[in-house]
Amino acid sequence: MKRVYNFSPGPAMLPGPVIERLREEMGDWHGSGMAAMEMGHRSAEFTSIAEKAEADLRDLLSIPDSYKVLFMQGGATAQFAAVPMNLCTADDTADYLVTGYWSRMAVREGARFCQANIVLDTADNGDTSIPEADQWRLSERAAFFHYVDNETIGGLRLPTVPVTKAPLVVDMSSSILSEPINVEDYGVIYAGAQKNIGPAGLTIVIVRDELLADNNGNDKKGNARKGAIPGVLDYRRMADAGSMLNTPPTFSWYAAGLVFEWLKAQGGVEKMAARNRAKADRLYRAIDGSAFYANPVAVKYRSVMNIPFMLADESLDTLFLEQAAERGLTSLQGHRSVGGMRASIYNSMPDEGVDALVEFMGEFERNHGQAFT
Ligand SMILES: Cc1ncc(COP(=O)(O)O)c(C=O)c1O
Repeated sequence: MKRVYNFSPGPAMLPGPVIERLREEMGDWHGSGMAAMEMGHRSAEFTSIAEKAEADLRDLLSIPDSYKVLFMQGGATAQFAAVPMNLCTADDTADYLVTGYWSRMAVREGARFCQANIVLDTADNGDTSIPEADQWRLSERAAFFHYVDNETIGGLRLPTVPVTKAPLVVDMSSSILSEPINVEDYGVIYAGAQKNIGPAGLTIVIVRDELLADNNGNDKKGNARKGAIPGVLDYRRMADAGSMLNTPPTFSWYAAGLVFEWLKAQGGVEKMAARNRAKADRLYRAIDGSAFYANPVAVKYRSVMNIPFMLADESLDTLFLEQAAERGLTSLQGHRSVGGMRASIYNSMPDEGVDALVEFMGEFERNHGQAFT
């Protein structure tokens, strides 16, 4: 089987051993005579798959019992709406820290369902650094504070957890499971699966019990929510239904479970964090040590997962991408809004993939970049 080093930002590469398991179990899951994706979602077989996946995720992130884990659909984009729908009314104010493309999308959508207050927008510095918290314009009584932990496109990350009075809501689509986190710092953590969890179609939402509406659909302040939220976006209803209010994305759920098993076998998120840091350091060293490649983000705020870089001569971009692909290094093109290149190096990108990229970058520079070095 030919496998490339796929640097796609998502859907992204899955671990090789997970692909193998998927192949082995495809037609006959554990002697059931069915593939996991052919099973009824309420069958005993699928229930065991679903429960194990949740238990393993809880284990990996040390998720306390006071939090629900929801397996939802609609991607992180649906959460941009679901968060304000579940956590506040249209009159409530919510704080949004804007550090790049995805937090801009989140606030644009969120503003349709609440009074969105932008506490800071890093557009002022081209999304290359994040001014300190004393410069954030927090509102007095925010229903929640939303931010994107790692901006997948700009390659910018917030290195510390914000300290706010309001419950913290974080989009961890491109950073979840890449390092240990303290779940109790957050009210809601959400992440689309297709980067660090598994195939697209699944969105993980981890929500603190006390933020759920009560059984009458009222929040703690007595504001009526019932009927105002589509059932599939309603955290309370999804939690009560064990994420099976309707047919869940069974294949993605099953495959995510295999990724969780693989992560545990690797030693868990602490081990992944050390490996991810080493991979990112290696790539940033190659970029910073050359006059031909550049990354514009201030060192303190650089992403460990998504590393954009520009070539000194952008007319060489196409040749770079072609020659990289010939080496089995694919999907390196930067997002259309940024240009240049971007290497997404999630958990499943092996060290050898980064080594191969760094070696290729050096060679490309020697062959085409003399004028710049
Ligand atoms: C940080 C972040 N948030 C949100 C999204 C949107 O996710 P989805 O396509 O699952 O709606 C992405 C997708 O790349 C992302 O990287």
